[in-house]
Amino acid sequence: MKKYFPVYVRVPLLFGLFFLLVEWLVGGEGEKPAFMEYPQVLILLGLFLFALIAVEIVVASTNKILDRLMTPEERVAEKNKRFSDLPWVKSLMSKLTKTKGIQEESDVMMDHDYDGIKELDNELPPWWVGLFYVTIIFSVIYLLRFHVFDGDNQIVEYEKSVAEAQLQIEEYKKTAPDMLTADDAKYLTDEADLAAGKKLFDANCMACHKLDGGGSIGPNLTDDHWILGGGVKNIFHTISEGGRPGKGMVPWKNNFKPSEIEKLASYVISLNGTNPADAKGPEGDIIWSKADLEGGEATPAEESAPVSDVAPESGETSESEVVAPEADSEE
Ligand code: HEC
Repeated sequence: MKKYFPVYVRVPLLFGLFFLLVEWLVGGEGEKPAFMEYPQVLILLGLFLFALIAVEIVVASTNKILDRLMTPEERVAEKNKRFSDLPWVKSLMSKLTKTKGIQEESDVMMDHDYDGIKELDNELPPWWVGLFYVTIIFSVIYLLRFHVFDGDNQIVEYEKSVAEAQLQIEEYKKTAPDMLTADDAKYLTDEADLAAGKKLFDANCMACHKLDGGGSIGPNLTDDHWILGGGVKNIFHTISEGGRPGKGMVPWKNNFKPSEIEKLASYVISLNGTNPADAKGPEGDIIWSKADLEGGEATPAEESAPVSDVAPESGETSESEVVAPEADSEE
């Protein structure tokens, strides 16, 4: 062995194998390797390394002595020995290949002779025959499993693993922190979402906004006037970050998950235009109603500008708009 693996390969290799074995047997908890968890393991590893080196030294000195005792011919023969000359390698190879030596070739020579090219009737190498039998057994099992007993084909297997992954995603979503922000919040119209929003609203917001959103300490949430801006984004932002300082509307982001704030915001939007009895008067200059959702979210500047103010400006350039100023004067 010594000739095929030099000492600087042999020692680290054996030590590495031993290290892996210890890791596997002792099995450190979690991320930490075993030797950090149990310091005794370090002593064991140290002892093993010490023993390895000691064995190496003994073997080296024995070899030196043996070398002295050898005749020059023996020394040359020893030097020229190859891996394939080792007795166990030789017997393994002959078992696996069953090759015939060149002196036995006449036994297997066939009478085919074409222009001096002859043919030997060698036995098939056992390693090859073994593999061949394995493929036959494999094919029988395969045939039975997939064609007789209708095992899952690739498509069914694929669909199954997709379904499994889907379940894992659902599972993950349940525990994962909510990633939703005001920017990707949406107006949820689903009954269940709105009902969940109403539940949260009734429990947390009615004290100031009233059960119907008509407003008391807080402003009326059902009219088209907004202090802090309408639309999903603005309302989401108001609920999570709170209103103007000192007004009483606190940030709710620590009380609710973003997905809950989205439901609250959607519920607030759904209240728009409900006109509850004794609602508070309009507050805020930003005009926004649920109907604006279809046209996207208008900016506060556009919302506060009445449509009739815009019409005359565009009327100046087009004849068909002449009616517009008249409509304006009528108001
Ligand atoms: C302690 C009283 C109080 C509670 C409780 C409260 N609010 Fe408010 N809310 C206010 C006040 C006051 C304002 C006005 C803030 C301002 O003027 O900056 C406001 C403003 C708002 C606005 C903005 C209205 C606009 O015109 O822009 C929304 C939306 C709103 N609240 C939703 C909620 C929701 C949803 C809850 C429950 C999670 C809630 N509020 C709980 C007092 C409250």
